[in-house]
Amino acid sequence: MAMVVTEPCFGCKYTNCVEVCPAECFYEGESMLFIHPDECIDCGACIPECPVEAIYYECDVPDKWHGYIELNREMAPQCPQITARKEPLCGGQG
Ligand code: F3S
Repeated sequence: MAMVVTEPCFGCKYTNCVEVCPAECFYEGESMLFIHPDECIDCGACIPECPVEAIYYECDVPDKWHGYIELNREMAPQCPQITARKEPLCGGQG
């Protein structure tokens, strides 16, 4: 099992999550972040850090966002790693 980044991240990318990840398993797509499921250690530290509640344990991903489980697996290996916080796309809270 792994953590999964879902739809609320899209267009936001607050990146609070990457700062607490001890496994450095976040990867940055153009519009959202992805977690590499083979690198994630299932600690859950990132979950409360996301201001828009985009991150779920794989088993807790809402049905409507189930496709994100495969999307994270597919996209993470294709994107550059991100380990430091940066300006979010959407500003505001966070
Ligand atoms: Fe995205 Fe939330 Fe991280 S918006 S970048 S999953 S803190």
